[in-house]
Amino acid sequence: MSTTLSNRMATVKMSPTTALFTKVEELKCKGEDIVSLNVGEPDFPTPDNIKEAGIKAINENFTRYTTGNGIAPLREAIIEKMKKDNGVTYEMNEVAVMVGAKQSLFCALCAVAGEGDEVIIPYPCYVSYPDIVTLAGAKPVLVKRNDDFSLDLEAIENAVTEHTKAVIICTPDNPTGKVYSEDDLRGLSDLAKAKDFFVISDEIYEKIIYGENRHISISSFEGMKDRTVVVNGFSKTYSMTGWRLGYLCARADVIGAAVKVQSQTTTTPPSISQYAAVEALRGPQDSVELMRSEFEKRRDYVQEKLRDIPGVVCHDIQGAFYAFFDIREFLGKEYEGYGLIENDSQFCEYLLEKYHVAMMPGSAYFAPGFVRISFASSMEVLKMATQRIALGLNAHKC
Ligand SMILES: Cc1ncc(COP(=O)(O)O)c(C=O)c1O
Repeated sequence: MSTTLSNRMATVKMSPTTALFTKVEELKCKGEDIVSLNVGEPDFPTPDNIKEAGIKAINENFTRYTTGNGIAPLREAIIEKMKKDNGVTYEMNEVAVMVGAKQSLFCALCAVAGEGDEVIIPYPCYVSYPDIVTLAGAKPVLVKRNDDFSLDLEAIENAVTEHTKAVIICTPDNPTGKVYSEDDLRGLSDLAKAKDFFVISDEIYEKIIYGENRHISISSFEGMKDRTVVVNGFSKTYSMTGWRLGYLCARADVIGAAVKVQSQTTTTPPSISQYAAVEALRGPQDSVELMRSEFEKRRDYVQEKLRDIPGVVCHDIQGAFYAFFDIREFLGKEYEGYGLIENDSQFCEYLLEKYHVAMMPGSAYFAPGFVRISFASSMEVLKMATQRIALGLNAHKC
């Protein structure tokens, strides 16, 4: 007998975004004036029509367990959305509502991968993918993306083994803001069909997309519906992070297995949130466009200000609400009143301590030498923050 922790826990990290969020909140409680660019959530309130639907659900006593895969009206609304946006037709047993996109990812991975299986994750990637794969009992296999953050299809093909069960992609992407091109997605779908693996397609930022860029779901390609697990949710599009609601669309057996995991963990997704989500999908969509266009203005501003700093490289931000910029030019230098800064984590600590700006180090996303900031903050905050970042970067001694 032993009271030690499980071996699996030794290989799972606390989410670095959650850890930094906690640290920043503690500093704010101590009265520190911190500009938080670390958090990945829209700063807008949940639209009123959705809030009212939640209040109505409470008043009408929809406050109990629901069916394990989510209420029928919500699954119907998701089916309508998938048909309209992606041109893919799902049946009621091919959709399941879960406690956020994150739990959807976990249940989906438990459904398709386990001991002895491998899951390929092109990186830079969302912080949680490797740990969710590990929690599911499978092995994450990290494969570098090209320098412009497009998919390196050759590297993915080389990483495929007889144990490969899935590749996880995110488009529009957190942290890089990349929207995968049709060619990249077609290349990956050809590979998935040839080598017989699933694609777990995280599409949570699908509506936060800029300029000429268009969201394409890989599930819409010929022969891909049955080998794609679409992960989506309400957190980003409808500014509903605290309502904890996401969903999966996939083959009925995958959905059935994912719902088994949910039934043995959270039982059901939250009832009140599900009624609010029906209104989110079926009600007026103007708030979605209002938020998107506001994000686009901020994207333009932040991208320009970062590019104005000589030495910083900031790729085109095509979607989501993050700037992921390269600060390698600024590492290995002494900073005024601070000392030597050798890596992105030290740089983020320095900026937090000296300039009170909280940012995520790129190494959290397996991209050392980069920094991620969220521009889901007001223009005033972003003006102050970009000034402080420029001051911090320029405070090095030659
Ligand atoms: C790429 C990506 N997937 C999933 C999630 C989780 O979203 P949810 O709040 O729906 O669990 C996030 C949240 O930041 C994310 O950035």
